[in-house]
Amino acid sequence: MTLSTARKSSEVLEYLQTRRSCPMNLLGDQQGPNHEEIKKMLEIAARVPDHGRLYPWYFVVFDGDARRDVGALLREAYKIEEPDATEDKLDLEAARFLRASTVILVISRIRMAKKPVWEQILSSANACYNLSLAANAMGYGANWLTEWYSSNAAFKTSLGLDERDHIAGAIYIGNVVKEPEERPRPNVEDLTTFWQAGATLNKGAAYDPEKPCNPAKGFSFPDDFR
Ligand SMILES: Cc1cc2nc3c(=O)[nH]c(=O)nc-3n(C[C@H](O)[C@H](O)[C@H](O)COP(=O)(O)O)c2cc1C
Repeated sequence: MTLSTARKSSEVLEYLQTRRSCPMNLLGDQQGPNHEEIKKMLEIAARVPDHGRLYPWYFVVFDGDARRDVGALLREAYKIEEPDATEDKLDLEAARFLRASTVILVISRIRMAKKPVWEQILSSANACYNLSLAANAMGYGANWLTEWYSSNAAFKTSLGLDERDHIAGAIYIGNVVKEPEERPRPNVEDLTTFWQAGATLNKGAAYDPEKPCNPAKGFSFPDDFR
C-alpha cells in the first residue's frame, strides 16, 4: 500500500474547498451504499488520528429494515422525553432513521487508558468527519446530526450503550436529491494569528453573538460536559 502523507492532489483540495453537508430535506433514501461500500467507508472512518491507538470509537449501522425497526426504540425513548407526545408525533420520531438510505452511529467509547478523555472524544469527531468525507467521495451525500436521541439515556440504554459510550454523531448517508446552496463561511483571518511576541490573538470575537450564553469573560465547563 502506498501511504498518503504529502501527496499533492488538486482534486482533493478542490473537493475540500467546496465540500458541503447535504441538508436533510435534500438527502434521499434511494440507491444507498451496499455493505461492501459501507465497510470501505468505515475503514476510512477508522483511519483517523487516535492518541495511543485506543480506537476509542465504534460504529452501529442501520440500513434496510433496521432503519424502521429501530423506530420502536426511538418511539419508547421519545415517550420519556415528551410524555404528552401525540401518536402522530411518536410516528414521526420513530421514522427518523428512514430519512436516508443508511444511518451510521459513531459511538465515542472511553477506553481506560492514560490518554485524556478529551482526546479520545476528539478522535471520535475525526471518525465522524472521515466517514462523511468517504461517503461523499463514493458519490453519496452525508449529514452529521446529533438530534435528541443522541443524548437520550433510554435510547442509548436500549441500544446497548453504557456509561462509557456517547453518540458522537449520527451520520445520515444517501443520494443527493438536489445540490444544496452554499452557507456563510467564516473569514479565517478573524480566527487566525500568526504569532509574534505581544500578539493579541484573533479569537473570532466577530462570531460571538451578543447573547448571555457568550459572556465576554468567565466560563467553566458545565457539570454534564462529557
Ligand atoms: C457534532 C455535530 C452535531 C451536529 N448536529 C446537528 C443537528 O443535530 N442538526 C443539524 O441541523 N445540524 C447539525 N450539525 C451541523 C451539520 O452537520 C452541518 O455541519 C451543518 O449543516 C453545516 O453544513 P456544512 O457541513 O456543509 O458546513 C452538527 C454538526 C456537528 C459537528
